[in-house]
Amino acid sequence: MIHKHTLIEATMAGAAIMKEYFDKQYTISSKSSLNDLVTEVDHKSEEAIFNVIKNHFPHHNILSEESGPVIQESHYKWIIDPIDGTINYANGIPICCVSIGLERDGIMEMGAVYNPFLGEFFFAQRGFGATLNNKKIHVSDTLELKRSCLATGFPYTYLDAVNGPLQVFEKLVRKGIPVRRIGSAAIDLCWVAAGRFDGFYEHKLQAWDSAAGLIIVLEAGGKVTDLSGKEYNHYEPGIIASNGLIHESLLNVVNGGEI
Ligand code: IPD
Ligand code: CA
Ligand code: CA
Repeated sequence: MIHKHTLIEATMAGAAIMKEYFDKQYTISSKSSLNDLVTEVDHKSEEAIFNVIKNHFPHHNILSEESGPVIQESHYKWIIDPIDGTINYANGIPICCVSIGLERDGIMEMGAVYNPFLGEFFFAQRGFGATLNNKKIHVSDTLELKRSCLATGFPYTYLDAVNGPLQVFEKLVRKGIPVRRIGSAAIDLCWVAAGRFDGFYEHKLQAWDSAAGLIIVLEAGGKVTDLSGKEYNHYEPGIIASNGLIHESLLNVVNGGEI
């Protein structure tokens, strides 16, 4: 229970910072490329989250996007994205969130994703199902890929590879399949869990983008694999998450197959 309380407290602490600064002036800088942004608010949110976790669990490991990892002798690791959807945030687009997952010996135990602008709090604990604002959620029951509503995201490099992000996107869109790009992988995953999207795929994510969303999708009855169809590991870049029913068809397209 204490893990769950800490997870919720930390998520809310980061989200409070996101809300506080949304309409204020803050510094924005580039990371790997001109539009790969980090804001002062990402750092402030991270600091608020760290304070909560270190206060309750000073000996746990931490992996967080904007700081180096904290590695100690512990079975537990907190995997943190202090703002997922930073480009949205920096442009005043309220589709962004705090995403925090708790891993035990390499397996995701719990995850929380909170978008304070929509007031949507997604949570899951291994074996206990997934919730949105304390109500149970479940993936969709769409049977066919051609009737699906999908989501994806694009990395800053690697776009043109064979069966890379642009080829897969083009193939789906040419068949008239809606593919949304909302700009937050954590929210994409939660929206699969809630049945809003039937599937989501992305070629290059980091552990902090997907750790919390992974357990939320699984606990909502969904399926999550890597791009070759193997069980997903959040330290691998490629991900396909779905309602399970369209998974094979989406996997086939991501690997160059026809629709
Ligand atoms: C990004 C978002 C985006 C995804 C990128 C991520 P950030 O995270 O999740 O949807 O397409 O790959 O890097 O930079 O906003 O934390
Ligand atoms: Ca992210
Ligand atoms: Ca981030």
